[in-house]
Amino acid sequence: MLQRPRRNRQSAVIRSMVEENRLSVKDMMFPLFVMEGQNTQTEISSMPGIYRFTLDLLLAEIESCVKLGIQSFALFPQIPESKKDSMATESYKKGNIYTESIYEISKRFPEISLLTDVAMDPYSSDGHDGIVKDGKILNDETLPVLAKMAITQAQAGSKLIGPSDMMDGRVGYLRQALDEAGYSQVGIMAYTAKYASAFYGPFRDALESAPKFGDKKTYQMNPANRREALIEAELDEMEGADFLMVKPALAYLDIIALLKENSHLPIAAYNVSGEYAMVKAAAQNGWIDGEKAMLESLLSIKRAGAQVILTYFAKEFAQLKLA
Ligand code: PBG
Repeated sequence: MLQRPRRNRQSAVIRSMVEENRLSVKDMMFPLFVMEGQNTQTEISSMPGIYRFTLDLLLAEIESCVKLGIQSFALFPQIPESKKDSMATESYKKGNIYTESIYEISKRFPEISLLTDVAMDPYSSDGHDGIVKDGKILNDETLPVLAKMAITQAQAGSKLIGPSDMMDGRVGYLRQALDEAGYSQVGIMAYTAKYASAFYGPFRDALESAPKFGDKKTYQMNPANRREALIEAELDEMEGADFLMVKPALAYLDIIALLKENSHLPIAAYNVSGEYAMVKAAAQNGWIDGEKAMLESLLSIKRAGAQVILTYFAKEFAQLKLA
């Protein structure tokens, strides 16, 4: 035998020498949930270890994450039902909990990167990502709402917005709106290939944002489709996206690899709430080793080609102090 692949696996140092991918806390973006009020944190029951924080406690949480080396975060708001309406007007009210949080976080932690979410669902009484009329999700009518939201966030200090809605043409529309308002330096991380997935359940628990009727299949992608992700990628790229995102991550590793091969933009992947919950639930039952399963999942996302990994595991990973 001339080739014996086991030779390169025979000791820890050799294995490390030939290791093709290595995880770093710098690969990770940590999603956070903010809610109104003071001095309160509530654990999301379907996401053990993940909390909704009031802003005062959120600032302390970010501080402890920064000390662990986490440099980038994504933020989502939980909005009280009484402030939701069909046009998501709360989303672009100055001084709402979300923009107040962006302002305070940017002031206190100017060195971090914060991805701010542009989508109607946290503020929509219909629980959808677009304006609903006669049971249909309107596309073009939704774009100006998204633009108002993006500009309000840029005014509060956002440097990177993440349209997570999947309306057609929104990346170009937002790029133009931001440029015209003087925010040409605000970047766009496009949720490019966002699938209509069962793995978003725990996130919708966290925000209490589940659709009040129907599903999101007329705007989020069909999990059966691969080539269609290239259409979305080409459009987002042409419309001015700075990052392309694939979501979810683990059930869509082939899509991450596909976009990596077909675009020169940085690729992000969202290791979503349900993917986190599965590992946690199995580990709590003693059915798998949670830490090893976490590391293997994150590594597979990186190996597939993601340069940025949005993951609820970010803090737990950072606490291991591996790299
Ligand atoms: C909606 C949005 C969703 C997530 C982020 N933004 C869910 C949905 O489309 O209903 C899910 C994230 C996760 O599951 O962790 N704009």
